[in-house]
Amino acid sequence: MTIMDTGWIDIGALDDVPRQGARIVRTPSGCIAVFRTADDRVFAIDDRCPHKGGPLSQGIVHGASVTCPLHNWVISLESGTAEGADEGSVACFRVKVEDGRIHLAASAIAFAVGDTSAT
Ligand code: FES
Repeated sequence: MTIMDTGWIDIGALDDVPRQGARIVRTPSGCIAVFRTADDRVFAIDDRCPHKGGPLSQGIVHGASVTCPLHNWVISLESGTAEGADEGSVACFRVKVEDGRIHLAASAIAFAVGDTSAT
């Protein structure tokens, strides 16, 4: 993981994440799940399901959503909100792909460790 002076953190190659899979970015206060969809879009959300904290990174990715492996809640990767009749949400973090590398907003790490002053 490389912290760039642009406010983005290089967390690895896009090809290191399988399509419809995820990888984890560990922070002092928890994990961020970085997902790759079948059409190569990338999303980063908190890895704790809003239901009972299930590991969303181990869920099944379909479209731009992930199904939690514990009780099958469906969470939007775009908004972090539970879909259907379920209610709850997880934090979403800015992420982008440049030159085949995934970059996570440095503010995501700051947010994850509780520094809300960072943007
Ligand atoms: S913990 Fe995710 S659906 Fe229950």
